[in-house]
Amino acid sequence: MSQAASHPSASPGASHPHPFDLKRCRADYPALRDKAYFNYGGQGPLSAGAIATISDAFQELQHLGPFGRGAGDWVERTTAQLRQALATELGVTPGTITLTENVTMGCNIALWGVDWKPGDRLLLSDCEHPGVVGTVQEIASRFSVKVDLCELAHLRDGAAIAAAVIQAIGPNTRLVVLSHLLWNTGVLLPVAELTRAMAAIPAARSRQLLLDAAQSVGSIPLNLEELGVDFYAFTGHKWLCGPEGTGGLYVRPGSDLRPTFIGWRGVTVDAIGWTNGLRDDGRRHEVATSAYPLYAGLSRAIADNNRWGSARDRFERIKTIAAYLWQRLGEVPRVTRLQLQEPDAGIVPFWVDDGTPQIHQRWSAHLEQQGIFVRTIAHPPCLRACVHHFSSEGDCDRLVAALEAGLG
Ligand SMILES: Cc1ncc(COP(=O)(O)O)c(C=O)c1O
Repeated sequence: MSQAASHPSASPGASHPHPFDLKRCRADYPALRDKAYFNYGGQGPLSAGAIATISDAFQELQHLGPFGRGAGDWVERTTAQLRQALATELGVTPGTITLTENVTMGCNIALWGVDWKPGDRLLLSDCEHPGVVGTVQEIASRFSVKVDLCELAHLRDGAAIAAAVIQAIGPNTRLVVLSHLLWNTGVLLPVAELTRAMAAIPAARSRQLLLDAAQSVGSIPLNLEELGVDFYAFTGHKWLCGPEGTGGLYVRPGSDLRPTFIGWRGVTVDAIGWTNGLRDDGRRHEVATSAYPLYAGLSRAIADNNRWGSARDRFERIKTIAAYLWQRLGEVPRVTRLQLQEPDAGIVPFWVDDGTPQIHQRWSAHLEQQGIFVRTIAHPPCLRACVHHFSSEGDCDRLVAALEAGLG
């Protein structure tokens, strides 16, 4: 067992005496030591403890014997622990969680699992991620489904977005596909209001809501049972700060979803080993062998986050830092903020000068040379800075100073 793995945060739920003791919190993350990091919406940093947990898990499985009974028990235990940890984060029961490898796979399970009929309509926003859009396009052509595009990129608040979405839903709208926290403009969808309003619109066949939760899981407090969403796809490697190759999908019990990808993890077998059906919980959408040590790494990452306060505490901290960055960017000549008021969560988009993609590409590269990590967004064209609960005012000041120096 390496030193980092025996860190006290290894025990999930261990409390920390100094919430948001930034110096100690940041010291856990090798990537944060020399960088002003603003790409949490792309990928979160791994804590030293999470890295050690993954490495130790690979070693432990070799030690136990990779395909032995001991290893099998370890896999079962580790998988159950992760499912429970994710369910707690989402405010749901473990049986509603399917483990996937990323957000896109979760969206694919929901998108392909609808029993599409010609003439059905799918409502998609113009703020969805390219992989989701590509899947929707293929479904449209394969099943003669009509796609309605709801333009949200120009809207700056959740209420306006909910109103636009409701307006765009018709009787044949079978599935509504949106992001909970828009990855480009950083607007947070008022999901509970939306699902209530959706329920009042007549539907020719059952209508469901799929949320892409790439930016919300790990950044905002969640209780999916209260939100009333049908499908909620998320990833471990962004705001949860887990390893790449981990993610999940929540499926509301009673929702209308057929499995598309089927494998031994999702089926039950009879006494002679013959497949006799699908499991009756979230495991039915899981397929086959995965990199199980990553599951241990994601559980550890979740436990590490929880050391710094409740989901609500961490969200308040994220909003405070985001508001600070938003204020400071407002002081920089030739920088324009997309948001008209303090950000809803941790995403703070802005543009420089006339905001062409070329200018932003140059700025992103120029800032990275100075150890400041922000990414470009194509639509609407902008630079995107994300702040986490362990971001500091110092990070924000560094970004602002580099912009001021470069813009002269
Ligand atoms: C809104 C949104 N959806 C989907 C993705 C893709 O994530 P993944 O690679 O986990 O599927 C991203 C990643 O940036 C995203 O921001």
